[in-house]
Amino acid sequence: MAVLVTGGAGYIGSHMAWALLDAGEEVVVLDRLSTGFRWAVPPAARFYLGDVGNMDLLAQVFAENRIDAVMHFAGSIVVPQSVAHPLEYYDNNTSKTRLLAEATIAAGIKHFVFSSTAAVYGDQPDDAPVLESAPLQPKNPYGQSKLMAEIMLRDAASAHDFRFVALRYFNVAGADPQGRTGLSTVGATHLIKIAVEAALAQRSGVDIFGTDYPTPDGTGIRDYIHVSDLVEAHLRALSYLRRGGEALIANCGYGRGYSVLEVLQTVMRVSGESFDVRYGPRRPGDAASVVANATLARRLLDWTPRHDDLEVIVQTALAWERHLMERKIGDLRELRQRLATAAF
Ligand code: UFG
Repeated sequence: MAVLVTGGAGYIGSHMAWALLDAGEEVVVLDRLSTGFRWAVPPAARFYLGDVGNMDLLAQVFAENRIDAVMHFAGSIVVPQSVAHPLEYYDNNTSKTRLLAEATIAAGIKHFVFSSTAAVYGDQPDDAPVLESAPLQPKNPYGQSKLMAEIMLRDAASAHDFRFVALRYFNVAGADPQGRTGLSTVGATHLIKIAVEAALAQRSGVDIFGTDYPTPDGTGIRDYIHVSDLVEAHLRALSYLRRGGEALIANCGYGRGYSVLEVLQTVMRVSGESFDVRYGPRRPGDAASVVANATLARRLLDWTPRHDDLEVIVQTALAWERHLMERKIGDLRELRQRLATAAF
């Protein structure tokens, strides 16, 4: 049987496709390549170019492959963008998840793993590691759009022969330790990506958003999780569902946080490079500290992280950034050669 990975040309989806193939699974990728890259899809995966909301295409994908599980990564993820274009986010993240779930159920496929987010929690009354049972109060349309999708999946699982696991990601970072894929998004806003770009002189420095938080050094604290551990949690979720596990929503993080300053110091130490750090005001909407309590995933999914080390996260992110730079140089060289040989 095969696994359908939507968004398999993107950051987390491409890691998932590789991990599934490593585990001996057959993989089908569906991606419209709006932010992902065709080259990021492993050659052994069957690729369909298109939108997860295209019901005709979904019917075709399900008819042409023996799929027993859907892993749904396709979606929009930039918080400020979601504030500026809320309806786009509700369309892409909520409406299209509804269509995909409908097509999945219609095709008789019983297993669904969904990419959710810590953004469903919003601000919590204290900074203790957050449990799945904490109040759900997203602060932006991105978090709302994912929460609404969780609710639809929960209701669908009650009504149909269909079970799902929604994993609420904390701060995903790092890249495949084998160097096969990584975060390639142009204009990414994530701290570790920005810091490794600065270390490799791809940008002028890093702005720290807020130095007056009630944290030990005044900067924001996040629970950074290595992307390989995250996709491992999805593999565990897949076997949990195949074993007959009930619908489940679980946090994915390590349960400990690092401040912005600690992250920047780690990037400087690991890269051996220093870069400009500018101390600025808080970014609107940011919480002081967001750390997971992930005991549920560890217990029910039998998930044991193997890369719980900020240095490893940074090392793999740096290695991938260097690879992207070499890639860009290669592309430019090829373009120059083509221009030189082109007949005008
Ligand atoms: N930060 C900086 N400077 C930067 C970028 C980030 O100081 O240039 C700080 C932020 O203020 C925050 C921390 O670094 O304290 C992490 O910021 P990111 O933008 O990397 O990540 P967020 O925690 O804001 O957001 C992440 C995901 C979202 C998800 C959210 C859930 O990117 O998709 O976690 O909590 F919604």
